[in-house]
Amino acid sequence: MKDFIIIGHKAVTDTFSLNDLPGAAGRMDILCRCVNAALFLSHDLRRDVRVFLIHKGGPSPPKLVRFEGSAVRYLSPDERSAASLIKKALEKNIQDFWTESTPGISVRNGDLEGLLKEMGKKIIYLREDGEDVRQKEFQEVFDPLFVLGDHLGLTGEEERIVLDYNPEIMSVGPLSLHADHCIVLLHNEMDRNIFRTPRIM
Ligand SMILES: C[S@@+](CC[C@H](N)C(=O)[O-])C[C@H]1O[C@@H](n2cnc3c(N)ncnc32)[C@H](O)[C@@H]1O
Repeated sequence: MKDFIIIGHKAVTDTFSLNDLPGAAGRMDILCRCVNAALFLSHDLRRDVRVFLIHKGGPSPPKLVRFEGSAVRYLSPDERSAASLIKKALEKNIQDFWTESTPGISVRNGDLEGLLKEMGKKIIYLREDGEDVRQKEFQEVFDPLFVLGDHLGLTGEEERIVLDYNPEIMSVGPLSLHADHCIVLLHNEMDRNIFRTPRIM
């Protein structure tokens, strides 16, 4: 299972208008593009992927929204489609445990620290100055958890929480990219590694 966490520092925690994802919804467009980059193939979904969105905007942060590639329905590859499913999730009566809002999408109260603790996985923190991802043999990592920031990166406090888990810090290239572009590049590296590995039939 490949897991991605994306931190949305401004992403709202209540219902929102689909007509202003970058503005009033708190850069919800970034989170939607990350969902699409993580889950979509051409005419198919990556069923071995989960995406965790951390919403830290008003009025009642923090909230977690989870997309499960193996179960998700009614998602098409445009920002508005992902946004409408996130909106439905945020309109639920949100509890301290996961509640499914639509197939494959769940929501709960929660923050980065609790999520990392609960998942208990090897963390790969995506940062511009990290080790080149091309040095990595991805078939060695069966169960990666990638952590990415939004347009604001990670705060000092978030970085401290992640570093407590002794993550690998990896870079996908020499320039600072959009988080969804990083996800596409990561998938490509993993796909190339996996499909290059000889298979015994
Ligand atoms: C738009 S960037 C954040 C830029 C922000 N101004 C900063 O300084 O952190 C969004 C996220 O994508 C990831 N990212 C961007 N470029 C990267 C790169 N070359 N290698 C690894 N991760 C990268 C990081 O996780 C970053 O937090």
